[in-house]
Amino acid sequence: MGISLDPTSKPSHFESLKISKKIIDVRLNLLNLKQLKKKISNFKPDFVFHLAAQSIVSKSYKEPLLTWHTNLIGTLNVLEALKSLNKFCVGVIITSDKCYKNFEISKGYKETDILGGDDPYSASKGAAEIAINSYIKSFLYNNKKFRIASARAGNVIGGGDWNSSRIIPDCIRAAIKNDTVKIRNLNATRPWQHVIELIYGYLLLAKKLKNNSNIHGESFNFGPRENLNYSVLDVLKEIKKNWKNFKWKKIKFKKNKLKEAKLLSLNCKKVNKILKWKLSMNFSQTIKTTIEWYKNYYNKKENAFLITSKQIKEYQKKIEKF
Ligand SMILES: NC(=O)c1ccc[n+]([C@@H]2O[C@H](COP(=O)([O-])OP(=O)(O)OC[C@H]3O[C@@H](n4cnc5c(N)ncnc54)[C@H](O)[C@@H]3O)[C@@H](O)[C@H]2O)c1
Repeated sequence: MGISLDPTSKPSHFESLKISKKIIDVRLNLLNLKQLKKKISNFKPDFVFHLAAQSIVSKSYKEPLLTWHTNLIGTLNVLEALKSLNKFCVGVIITSDKCYKNFEISKGYKETDILGGDDPYSASKGAAEIAINSYIKSFLYNNKKFRIASARAGNVIGGGDWNSSRIIPDCIRAAIKNDTVKIRNLNATRPWQHVIELIYGYLLLAKKLKNNSNIHGESFNFGPRENLNYSVLDVLKEIKKNWKNFKWKKIKFKKNKLKEAKLLSLNCKKVNKILKWKLSMNFSQTIKTTIEWYKNYYNKKENAFLITSKQIKEYQKKIEKF
């Protein structure tokens, strides 16, 4: 069962894969606690992955209250719905690498570092982490019915993302129209990773939680090794290698407008050690796999479900040998 609002982007990955025919597709606002509790308690899940969020930093400046409600109260509502479940359940709660107080240093943040966030998206994710910890420690810690952990991932890319104000979809929209994409900050570095690698990490975390009570209440960073962070300019150059007519142009960054962190890096030793998870694709392969998805979709007109399934199977083969 999947619970979400209606997809907003056009096209959308969810719709192009026709996922609603394969799952129980519930369209519900997380802020409706009564209905959320009802849906979850009737379904009796063994695992809950909470990913729903207002996930766009620039939108969080335009709609701060919506962002705070969705990311903080929405997360608390999910925990409250889990608390009222009458069975064993594993919960993986997704926040973000932006939950850390950003000191603009190149050293990677560890799970024990200070939480914070200046823009409403980052701050609401930091606040969600505090709320998750408090909820677990106050209500769910000694309760044998629950195993919950939070996941703090770096920047996620992959085919089928059509969200606005995100680097890859913005570049693809420009490339298919033969336009030039306008970029504000070429030097911002991020812990880029492919969505398939990350989903595998979330599944490993859920499995480990089910079998091991020691990690109940813990948080985990997911991303590349801390010295393997690349800039927006590096991303653009890699896209260009894979999409020949792709062009970009730097535009002036208006001071004090839509401030975003410049340096963001994660220390992922904990997840390497406990889950034995690490990225199997290097930076070039991550961008190549992402761009190939869109090329197959737009140029070869391949079926979106087949493209995604093929990429998942290729990844499975790769990690079997990894
Ligand atoms: N994309 C990234 O680079 C990245 C990085 C780190 C963490 N994250 C986090 O991972 C999660 C998934 O990210 P994404 O990129 O797939 O985001 P997305 O914006 O593509 O998807 C978010 C989903 O949440 C749903 N949603 C939003 N408000 C809701 C509400 N009130 N009730 C019910 N559903 C609601 C939307 O309908 C959408 O399906 C988010 O929590 C995001 O903050 C994303």
